[in-house]
Amino acid sequence: MSELNTIEQFLAHAKNCFLRSENLDKDDAKIDARALLSAVVDKPLSYLSTWPEKHLSAEQSELMLSFIERRLKGEPVAYITGKREFWSLEFFVAPCTLIPRADTETLVEAVLDNNADATNDLSVLDLGTGTGAIALALASEQPHWQIEALDFNDEAVLLANNNAKHLQLSQVKIYQSDWFSAVAKDKRFDVIVSNPPYIDENDTHLTEGDLRFEPKSALVANGNGLSDIKHIIDISRQHLAVNGQLYLEHGFEQHLQVQQLLSDYGFKQIQTFTDFGGNPRITMGYLT
Ligand SMILES: C[S@@+](CC[C@H](N)C(=O)[O-])C[C@H]1O[C@@H](n2cnc3c(N)ncnc32)[C@H](O)[C@@H]1O
Repeated sequence: MSELNTIEQFLAHAKNCFLRSENLDKDDAKIDARALLSAVVDKPLSYLSTWPEKHLSAEQSELMLSFIERRLKGEPVAYITGKREFWSLEFFVAPCTLIPRADTETLVEAVLDNNADATNDLSVLDLGTGTGAIALALASEQPHWQIEALDFNDEAVLLANNNAKHLQLSQVKIYQSDWFSAVAKDKRFDVIVSNPPYIDENDTHLTEGDLRFEPKSALVANGNGLSDIKHIIDISRQHLAVNGQLYLEHGFEQHLQVQQLLSDYGFKQIQTFTDFGGNPRITMGYLT
């Protein structure tokens, strides 16, 4: 190994290791190297370009080498650094739940766009909130909306509450619940949103990339991946206000089935939105 002292040398070393790995996407080698080093020196990415000749301390060097090793085993960068940006907000992440994906911002955008003309503050429920990504992104845009978020995983609830505190969005009520079980029977919301587990257990994507490290409880659902979506559509009807809206994230090949389920359960004006890659990934409907 050539000498490793400066930011520039560590970046080149990490990038080369990642490019040589069979395990990793080569297109991300430079991005991953920069994200890891930025976390190690605890400075923004721009610092790395501004100060390439800065030396790392012995402690930082050791940490960076351990991060490179973990990444070479395929561990997601976000789990290594413990952070991920979503909706331009910094979220803490942990292996108890999904790492927020940029495509989920499409769901946030759809809710905000469809309700841009609302004259009242809306009540919103986020089912399976994980890090709190969707609920907290909505709260950052609409601080007066009454937003609740739940997850059945205790650790995820703790994590989402930490994110709420960190982002100074503690008005969002975050609690433990198996879907609607802890939601008051007579409680109605204007908007219900969810990015639930929707991957079939035999889907080969589960053995690839970041998905290998994320918990099955956040990813996999029975019935070709549709059982949680079906349950949410069914029970949402008891918790939506008149003309209430239900938004669901789903797989790119599931939109027709999700549209059909919404229609079967009485939802109207059903629309599907595409993600940043142009795939149909978010479907919503109104309960009139
Ligand atoms: C695909 S992840 C989505 C996380 C987050 N909403 C996001 O978009 O990044 C699904 C989440 O649903 C939660 N979940 C799974 N089954 C659940 C259930 N029965 N009740 C409540 N939450 C559940 C998981 O713990 C996980 O956090």
